[in-house]
Amino acid sequence: MSFVEYSERIREGDVVIIYLGHESMMPVKVQAGGKTQTRYGAIRHSTDLIGQSFGSKVTCSKGGWVLVLHPTPELWTVSLPHRTQILYTTDIATITMMLELKPGSVVCESGTGSGSLSHAILRTIAPTGHLHTVEFHQQRAEKVEQEFQEHRVDHLVTVRNQDVCREGFGVAGVADAVFLDIPSPWEAVGHAHTAMKRHGGRLCSFSPCIEQVQRTCEALTERGFHDLSTLEVALRVHGVRSVGLSLPDFGPDAGPDAGETPAPAPVHTSVAIKTTIPPREMTGHTGYLTFATKPRT
Ligand SMILES: C[S@@+](CC[C@H](N)C(=O)[O-])C[C@H]1O[C@@H](n2cnc3c(N)ncnc32)[C@H](O)[C@@H]1O
Repeated sequence: MSFVEYSERIREGDVVIIYLGHESMMPVKVQAGGKTQTRYGAIRHSTDLIGQSFGSKVTCSKGGWVLVLHPTPELWTVSLPHRTQILYTTDIATITMMLELKPGSVVCESGTGSGSLSHAILRTIAPTGHLHTVEFHQQRAEKVEQEFQEHRVDHLVTVRNQDVCREGFGVAGVADAVFLDIPSPWEAVGHAHTAMKRHGGRLCSFSPCIEQVQRTCEALTERGFHDLSTLEVALRVHGVRSVGLSLPDFGPDAGPDAGETPAPAPVHTSVAIKTTIPPREMTGHTGYLTFATKPRT
């Protein structure tokens, strides 16, 4: 269940995800008179998109079809225009759970980057929570703000274009949780402490290198955070397939104990056998997630 309101039908100004296949999706802003080219032909926004239900199959000009989907955080993460390295769903799922985010939570985040994590946070904290996100790169801050508006979640978020290590999050005593994805998180730990509620909360810092983790843990301990734990999430995807196989079927009474009557002639039936393909490769190292709790002050 989601508290971010998705409309049922596509309207002008909406962002839709054009789904061509699992590995091929593109976000498109719907405009009256607009046209989007795909490998299956053109999609005309006025006739093919506006007024159609999200989730519909749309036939393109060359006869192939695509699906038109809501820009959910999961689909946005795999289709957004990258301005930076981003967080992916495996890390994001762990972060939202371990930060104990829920509808109504107030969260501080820095840096915003491409907004991959921000979109997942927004869906989790809607409809009454708020995200304060800090990004010191001006174009990135402006672009992500525009995307929040286009995705109609801008009422849930404040973007601040400033250096979190120097100026902090721009709020004090309000955050239930803080998330850091910056090169020197230890420099922002004091500001995180200030931003968090007096009765405490949860912090997470994402760093690719263990030396960054060590410095961050030192800063967290000095500031009185406790319950420190660092983990790395490794994803193993298993391919479970159903394979049709033709086996002789001797009927319900067949078999060694079936009685005096001769067994009926075998009928061939198709049986689904599940096979599991072991994962050939694992997702590589993304980063370490360090969690800590701010005690009540
Ligand atoms: C790796 S990206 C964050 C990606 C983001 N978590 C996502 O999922 O899209 C790191 C961002 O932090 C920003 N940044 C680095 N140091 C910062 C600082 N001191 N204050 C604010 N932003 C900072 C960078 O400009 C960059 O956009």
